[in-house]
Amino acid sequence: MNPKTLVSEEKSLHMTPEEFRRYGHAVVDWIADYQSRVENLPVLSQVKPGEIRASLPATPPAKGEGFDALLNDIDRLILPGVTHWQSPNFFAYFPCNASGPGILGDLLASGLGVQGMLWSTSPACTELETHVMDWLVGMLGLPEKFLSSDVGGGVIQDTASSAVLCALLAAREGATEYASNKQGCNGKLVAYASTQTHSSLEKAAMIAGIGTQNLRLVEVDEKFAMRPDALTKQIEADKRSGLTPIFVCATVGTTSSNAMDPVAAIGEICRKNNLWLHVDAAMSGTAMVCPEFRHLQNGVELADSYNFNPHKWMGANFDCSCFWVADRKALIQTLSILPEYLRNQATESGAVIDYRDWHIQLGRRFRSLKLWFVIRHYGVDGLQHNVREHVRLAQEFAGWVRKDDRFELAAPVPLNLVCFRHKGGDAANQAIMDRLNRSGDLFLTHTKLNGKLTLRLSIGQMHTKTRHVERAWERIKEEATQL
Ligand SMILES: Cc1ncc(COP(=O)(O)O)c(C=O)c1O
Repeated sequence: MNPKTLVSEEKSLHMTPEEFRRYGHAVVDWIADYQSRVENLPVLSQVKPGEIRASLPATPPAKGEGFDALLNDIDRLILPGVTHWQSPNFFAYFPCNASGPGILGDLLASGLGVQGMLWSTSPACTELETHVMDWLVGMLGLPEKFLSSDVGGGVIQDTASSAVLCALLAAREGATEYASNKQGCNGKLVAYASTQTHSSLEKAAMIAGIGTQNLRLVEVDEKFAMRPDALTKQIEADKRSGLTPIFVCATVGTTSSNAMDPVAAIGEICRKNNLWLHVDAAMSGTAMVCPEFRHLQNGVELADSYNFNPHKWMGANFDCSCFWVADRKALIQTLSILPEYLRNQATESGAVIDYRDWHIQLGRRFRSLKLWFVIRHYGVDGLQHNVREHVRLAQEFAGWVRKDDRFELAAPVPLNLVCFRHKGGDAANQAIMDRLNRSGDLFLTHTKLNGKLTLRLSIGQMHTKTRHVERAWERIKEEATQL
């Protein structure tokens, strides 16, 4: 078909800068309005499976549509199927904050459209990232060996799952003198974590060829923290069986109950046995911006790698996961591949960082822009304030639970997650949670602790204030009364 029959030669298919400006303003207005009204929307989407797809046209448009129609359809077709993670009444899982500066930084990254796989494909993309990651080492009180000016360095990954996979791969290669990259795994390498460790490690063990059979889930104590004595016993038993222990993941703030593994004791065991120690502080790492919470990760100087997700509690919207290693050479040697078409002078000079060697994928977004904006907008003081407020609110909520005879706390509350339950048993807790979530007034999720269904109130949405937590408690009590 002659293309001229489809499109007039004068009319470009693309948005002009002027059109982009107009529609861009409309989108920013839409987001600002959304931010103003999100508090009043039902938090958990109330649609049924398939409902959103059924409302969409069966086939794509043959001819392009006007932008107004696209934006209208966000309200009409998409919003009903959105669970509002940015609602101050969102208390589920762990938070995932999209702050104003984060959104705008991300928009600029999209506008620049940079793909920063190599230093030379956008030096600013690499150098800003290195700089912000070094800032964060100081901001979070992390060991200086993680600095790029030292032997380590940091990189922004998409998620904590990718970070732990990279750590495990580097540990595997270090332990086999870089032979398993060539030969594959021998089925004898063993990794350790607690029974409460995030499932992403299990996935990493599958992908890295360690095998889930060789992932040991070590017992926890009454606070759901890894027991160092049980870890030692397991390592010794594996060594006696002719296996090769290589890696331990300690968690600072488990997903289920926010338990804090004893990093110092685990780190000593790792040193003694020459094991890689990865510290996963996905959500709780943000709290380390406040010096008074850093005792929760005492011993972090023993870590070989560390990860936290600013997209959870710091406001650098998804995805943004900061990963540091103490020895960048080990990571780079594990993941580096240099095909001819990527060769360039800067790389050959050895004077630059090429972040493509620091993670799984080749291409990479300009994620540091949003993180830079967030840190500069709030400042260290502002970020500390956000954390302290959420921790204060969680402690207050825990106090209300303690005082109500119908409820009990199910785990310690070191920071901003409260695990609690109604004493009426699993069915009662399930009913309370289902009714609350169906009401749209708030959204909370559950876990199982010691075999019992437990409600989790995770306080970390940036706009959650005292009145939202008070209202949540009122609603929880109301539903308990209805039982
Ligand atoms: C402790 C911990 N580790 C890892 C993860 C996985 O996070 P991501 O979605 O960044 O892979 C989570 C998610 O909540 C988590 O809480």
